[in-house]
Amino acid sequence: MNPVRARIIGTGSYLPRTIRTNHDIEKMVDTSHDWIVSRSGISERRIAAEDEQTSDIACAAARQALDMAGLKPSDLDMIMLATVTPDMIFPPTACILQHKLGIGGCAAFDLNAVCSGFLYGLAVADGFIRGGNANNILVVGAEILSRIVNWQDRTTCVLFGDGAGAVVLRAEKDSNRGILSSHLHADGQYAPLLTVPAGGTAIPTTRQSVENRLHYITMQGNEIFKVAVRCLAEVAVEALKYNHVDLDELKFLIPHQANMRIIKAVSSRIGLPPEKVYTNVHKYGNTSSASIPIALDEANRAGLLNPHDLLLFDTFGGGLTWGAMLARW
Ligand code: ACO
Repeated sequence: MNPVRARIIGTGSYLPRTIRTNHDIEKMVDTSHDWIVSRSGISERRIAAEDEQTSDIACAAARQALDMAGLKPSDLDMIMLATVTPDMIFPPTACILQHKLGIGGCAAFDLNAVCSGFLYGLAVADGFIRGGNANNILVVGAEILSRIVNWQDRTTCVLFGDGAGAVVLRAEKDSNRGILSSHLHADGQYAPLLTVPAGGTAIPTTRQSVENRLHYITMQGNEIFKVAVRCLAEVAVEALKYNHVDLDELKFLIPHQANMRIIKAVSSRIGLPPEKVYTNVHKYGNTSSASIPIALDEANRAGLLNPHDLLLFDTFGGGLTWGAMLARW
């Protein structure tokens, strides 16, 4: 008998309506559309409305995923929300999301692995399902990064955007479809490369911390670039080797959408042709934990995915954290 597997049976996404183009950002900081496109591949990104919170955009994506899965919110055993931009420090935004979905009772918690949060969440959900402790799990990646971006810092503000993506996982018996393996890594020595320094216990919120703009994203982009390319390539190969899968068997690599140059460097390093790499970073920028589920939902709704297709997810983020997952659709 085949093992119980966690299979994605529904996807959803939500992108705020407001589009902020590179030309809009040219009016805010000393930059240019050409510089941003050549260094990152990003042309525009979405910005959440003032009255939208992370739980709202998460809820919109979750409802789509549940609809596609043919499930009601009350069918869920667990809700996991990957985010670095929660509605507030606590309670977990996942609990607020649960209430907005009109249910109570099932487990609900947030998970922070920065841009890798969604893949970490999928791996945790996979463990619960394989262990027989849950049947239906909602995993959401949702971010309103525009609220923690320093719009006076041209080295970071051009890169990030807002959005949410969600999947519903179901326990499937006797199926060779679903998540095949997860490969998660982290190395805290690189933590200072990408941080929001204040607002936690290290630098609590004070008038001075706010004046010094310490509640915004700080990043050493050059250093991150180098580590990201190496780690993304290595962990992609780790997942393929573990499953004895050759590159030509893959339908798509769906990588974290941080920067087109990183994605191109990784795919060329592992030898994957561009047509097998799904990208949408030009439209949405880096939406952190939301980027992979948004890309997956886009590919799914475009009809690009067929049963039994092999998909490789590859992610990288602050921490530093990184990981890959192979799934049979
Ligand atoms: N417009 C114009 N000039 C700029 C801008 C801008 N928006 N930003 C920086 N510059 C300038 C710099 O000031 C610098 O000028 P100088 O030479 O006079 O000092 C020059 O451009 C080159 O700066 P670099 O930082 O060396 O530029 P680089 O080619 O490395 O590109 C970038 C910067 C795009 C940030 C790149 O390093 C990168 O993509 N790094 C990875 C960042 C990333 O993806 N982070 C998130 C990943 S993890 C996660 O997703 C959470």
